[in-house]
Amino acid sequence: MDKKLRKAVIAGNWKMNKTPEQTEALINGIKPLVASAECDVIVCVPFVCLDAALKAAEGSNIKVGAQNCHWAKSGAFTGEISADMLASMGVPYVITGHSERRTYFGDTDVTVKNRTRAALDAGLTVILCVGEHLEQREQGTTFEVVRAQVKIALGEVSEQELERIIIAYEPVWAIGTGKTATAAQANEVNKAIRELIGELYSKASADKTVIQYGGSMNGANAAELLAQYDVDGGLIGGASLKAAEFASIVTAASK
Ligand code: PGA
Repeated sequence: MDKKLRKAVIAGNWKMNKTPEQTEALINGIKPLVASAECDVIVCVPFVCLDAALKAAEGSNIKVGAQNCHWAKSGAFTGEISADMLASMGVPYVITGHSERRTYFGDTDVTVKNRTRAALDAGLTVILCVGEHLEQREQGTTFEVVRAQVKIALGEVSEQELERIIIAYEPVWAIGTGKTATAAQANEVNKAIRELIGELYSKASADKTVIQYGGSMNGANAAELLAQYDVDGGLIGGASLKAAEFASIVTAASK
């Protein structure tokens, strides 16, 4: 299958950065730089910046996402945000399973599955993050770990719903460290994920699924990573906080 049949998706993950005011400014900075992008462009902002982001992005090709959602529809979960709340604001995307949620906030493969399920039920498109720790890579268990993460997270996802799942392979050792996976390392794990999708669903769905790479992707290394057959875009942390750098990755994905 021609890689061009899978439209690349470049998503910024702003993490816990920017106020609503700064959100407006950054999106206004990004807008003209990505106006002719041939890939999808998403910015995943803090909850309190969603409203500002939606307003600033209105009428542009920038789409807005949240960085997490709870698995329950509502209830006694102090400090949490439901997928329905995001949907009611008009937010189309949400990240689930980011390694920082897994590491610092107790997310497990099962809670990631539940969050993903809730997001799909609310009509959202999910950017589902998976990836191995350094120890796991060194022990040679990368493929097992990542396959298990993907399999569990997709446990209650139908083949039709899979069209609203983007998978982001993010080796934990590459996130925020400046240590990017080589293009070959990124591609071989993405390829393994695609093969798993083929086993769980069908070859046709595997060919259609967008699988990103994330972990220290920036303007300098994006082109090589994105040129890989199984790398269909990127989830960008640090480099998504500067308009010109983020736009240069979008440009690399548009070639
Ligand atoms: P990074 O973060 O680009 O800063 O490594 C990626 C991510 O955590 O999604």
